[in-house]
Amino acid sequence: MNILFIGDVVGKPGRTALKEHLPNLKKEHKADLTIVNGENAAHGKGLTKPIYHSFLEWGADMITMGNHTFDKKEIFDFIDDADRLVRPANYPTGTPGIGMRFMNVNNKVVAIINIQGRTFLPPLDDPFQVIDSLIEKAKKRTSIIFVDFHAEATSEKQAFGWYLDGRVSCVVGTHTHVQTSDERILPKGTAFITDVGMTGPYDSVIGTEIDSVIRRFKTSLPVRFEVPETNRTVLSGIVVSVDESTGIAKRIKRILINDDHIRFS
Ligand SMILES: [Fe+2]
Repeated sequence: MNILFIGDVVGKPGRTALKEHLPNLKKEHKADLTIVNGENAAHGKGLTKPIYHSFLEWGADMITMGNHTFDKKEIFDFIDDADRLVRPANYPTGTPGIGMRFMNVNNKVVAIINIQGRTFLPPLDDPFQVIDSLIEKAKKRTSIIFVDFHAEATSEKQAFGWYLDGRVSCVVGTHTHVQTSDERILPKGTAFITDVGMTGPYDSVIGTEIDSVIRRFKTSLPVRFEVPETNRTVLSGIVVSVDESTGIAKRIKRILINDDHIRFS
């Protein structure tokens, strides 16, 4: 089974890149399941209902989120009906939405989990404890488990990958928006990458308009951050091949498409 994952889609440039490239990527990589991180899709922060439906229309099967899940207030109106969306599982009990969903793919059940780190991010419940109970629950139905770990610190993301080695099929880091080149299959069969990278404006600072970020660093004053309007985009992703009978990952490949990497896959 091939699982295609597209990293954090940022604003309109990200949506444009996703719409343009996703059909070809799904074909090229023979994707059986396509997962997209959409927590920055609505002008850099959050997700709206029309964008959620556009992603599904363009070919996403599941959308993962992160620390910006609830930034667009309208999410509260549709998150509980959005059966193709997972938000970080370690929000307090009673938070709208859900952190793990099951999907049928090739007549096999796949568990998709979204969970958030705690280093340099708002303190949610301990992801290392929460993931243990989610895996226990998932294993009753499947050994094919995909985890999007939305976290800031590379160390926390790597520790999480090692912690889950042999227990899940794949752990991808998201949130930091710069693709790392450390994709690998860990010794016990879990595919891992520290960060998949973003899908959004190429000439930007992790998706944000450049001058405003420089002004913020130079002055330390509050600055309004915008997603720049641009035709130059980057798309970042990975594709992982999983043995359907064991849930063990066989291969992980990075995907990076921008004007300097026309087709790195
Ligand atoms: Fe994030």
